[in-house]
Amino acid sequence: MAMRSPIALFALALSCVAICACNRAPGHPAVDSQVLRPNEVLNFDVLYRQNCAGCHGEQGKGGAAIALNSEIYLAIADEGTLRRITAKGVPGTAMPAFAQSSGGMLTDEQISAIVGGIRSRWSKRDSLDPIPPSYIALAPGDPQHGLKVYETYCSSCHGAAGRGGSRAGSIVDESYLNLVSDQYLRTIVIAGRPELSAPDWRGNVPGKPMSQQEVSDVVAWLSAQRPKLALSSNTKSPTGGTQ
Ligand code: HEC
Ligand code: HEC
Repeated sequence: MAMRSPIALFALALSCVAICACNRAPGHPAVDSQVLRPNEVLNFDVLYRQNCAGCHGEQGKGGAAIALNSEIYLAIADEGTLRRITAKGVPGTAMPAFAQSSGGMLTDEQISAIVGGIRSRWSKRDSLDPIPPSYIALAPGDPQHGLKVYETYCSSCHGAAGRGGSRAGSIVDESYLNLVSDQYLRTIVIAGRPELSAPDWRGNVPGKPMSQQEVSDVVAWLSAQRPKLALSSNTKSPTGGTQ
């Protein structure tokens, strides 16, 4: 199986950060406790470094998870979206909930400082050309058509059926697909991971940006590649054991 670095390391990298983060659990103050109490810190750089950089990278890029300094990401995801995800996390993935009301350690003010800092520092005012597909899918995707979309835009790098090619690794690996949400797959298809040479929605085939529906369809196809086990409790299909 083609297991190239970034995706194969995704799960490992994220779980390391999650473990390390436990060192800062309540009742275990960091050795270098500052003058301010932890819930009084409102400085963006400090909050970002302590809470986000481990997964999203220093300066907003280069981590295992999406670059938060992406101009495209910040153009499609509005402030309310950033705030909701930062506060509540994404259940079933490694993205933790940070708001105290959701079991995290940050106050609402600290969440505002992080979200405001991400936007003021990293979003650009210029509008993108062409206009990117919307953050939320406007219509459900069609997985069958999604396979054709995959072959048009993605297989040149990710290989036949997404199992990895000479230019990029597998994106149908269950250890990857089980750790990310469909929204995140959509986000990645639109914004790309430029720091890893993964193109955005305009860059897969030069001069041929993906349409709104093509993005939805390819995400539906990718989502359908997840192992079916957890999807339905009364599924008739045999469990299939361990692959
Ligand atoms: C020009 C080559 C290229 C094309 C075309 C391409 N990708 Fe990628 N993609 C990459 C590279 C490089 C990475 C980084 C990881 C790696 O090296 O495997 C990546 C990573 C990804 C990831 C994982 C991102 C993450 O960090 O979680 C997904 C999902 C993905 N691509 C989906 C797609 C889809 C869907 C398409 C077609 C719409 C596509 N890619 C087209 C090169 C490409
Ligand atoms: C332990 C690793 C980890 C940490 C720490 C972390 N994130 Fe995330 N983050 C992720 C992962 C993984 C995802 C993808 C979740 C998914 O699949 O939807 C994500 C997704 C996100 C998204 C949504 C991307 C989208 O698709 O719209 C935002 C916004 C975000 N993180 C912000 C933050 C901020 C702000 C912090 C710090 C306060 C932070 N994250 C800390 C791992 C992390």
